[in-house]
Amino acid sequence: MAIPLRSVLVSDEVDPLCVELLQKNGIPVTCKYKMPKEELLKEIPKHDGLVVRSDTKVTAEVIAAATNLRVVGRAGTGVDNIDLEAATARGIIVLNTPGGNSISACELTCALIADLARNVSVACHSLKAGRWDRKLYSGSELQGKTLAVLGLGRIGREVAHRMQAYGMKIIGVDRVNCKSQLSRSFQTVGFDPIVTREDAAAFNVEKMELEQIWPVADYITVHTPLIPQTRNMINDQVFTKCKKGVKVVNVARGGIICEEGLLKALQDGRCGGAALDVFSEEPPKGATTRALIEHPKVVATPHLGASTAEAQSRVAVEVAEQFVALADPSSPYSVTGV
Ligand code: NAD
Ligand code: MLT
Repeated sequence: MAIPLRSVLVSDEVDPLCVELLQKNGIPVTCKYKMPKEELLKEIPKHDGLVVRSDTKVTAEVIAAATNLRVVGRAGTGVDNIDLEAATARGIIVLNTPGGNSISACELTCALIADLARNVSVACHSLKAGRWDRKLYSGSELQGKTLAVLGLGRIGREVAHRMQAYGMKIIGVDRVNCKSQLSRSFQTVGFDPIVTREDAAAFNVEKMELEQIWPVADYITVHTPLIPQTRNMINDQVFTKCKKGVKVVNVARGGIICEEGLLKALQDGRCGGAALDVFSEEPPKGATTRALIEHPKVVATPHLGASTAEAQSRVAVEVAEQFVALADPSSPYSVTGV
């Protein structure tokens, strides 16, 4: 059954390809960004479709005001800025673009792991400030170290795959059947309640329970959604169980690593460094989050995981295609993200 989309509001800046594709398929679009809540509440009843990234908070109040709304499209993965319960209660479809930005988020994660190992951004900062601190910023190799990937979904698996290359020594390549003989020395261990030991082994990850992971990991990177089971998954007590100086990375969602616990662990040396792309509050204003960002052993980026030209055009096109599929089921597109 077709869902008539007479007007779509795009309330966060997404790649222009989204608007182009909607308009090309006869769907009128209004773009209004960074609207204060009151303005959004006045605007939303005029539209039956809404496209957001992560800035617009589609709260129960917004849903209640959205008297004509039939579909919310998230140009990205996480739908945690949308009140799913309120949308479901009103029969509003919520869709996302799973996978469109996974490679970009993965590549940022890998860059941050390498940065933590070699102090790239802190040393750069110091050099720009006029210092020449070669001794202070001496690092450590990734080869031979253990990386724990918590959450072996789209992004976690890609990270595991790429980081293995840091420790892989190619000792022979059989040109006939193209099989490489590899010896792994950067060990990747992972945890995911859904992924079986066999699945994990298929992509060279040894599945372990969290309690086994804490004492062996040199690096821990989190790639789960933020849900009650993952909130504060790495906290003050966990740091006590970890190897002294463990380094942690969060390119998933703020709150999976407890910010208070992380700050304490950085201050007393249980944690040797952290790379953070996401925060419990964005933009971060709270004292703990600011203290973390300012900490000399923290590398921080302003939620840039999906901020590449490729990811942004992919998610923009994917969200528009799904809207077109809803408006015209005979179109070549289909709804892929839920
Ligand atoms: P995904 O759904 O493909 O994978 C998430 C995995 O986490 C699943 O395999 C699931 O089984 C696992 N999981 C769930 N609960 C768990 C638990 N308690 N312990 C361990 N594993 C658990 O998601 P994805 O596309 O890989 O995205 C991962 C995260 O990255 C999400 O939070 C997403 O919102 C975020 N993300 C951030 C950016 C960014 O810009 N920083 C970009 C894209 C995605
Ligand atoms: C996502 O969940 O896709 C990320 O938060 C990326 C984003 O939209 O910025």
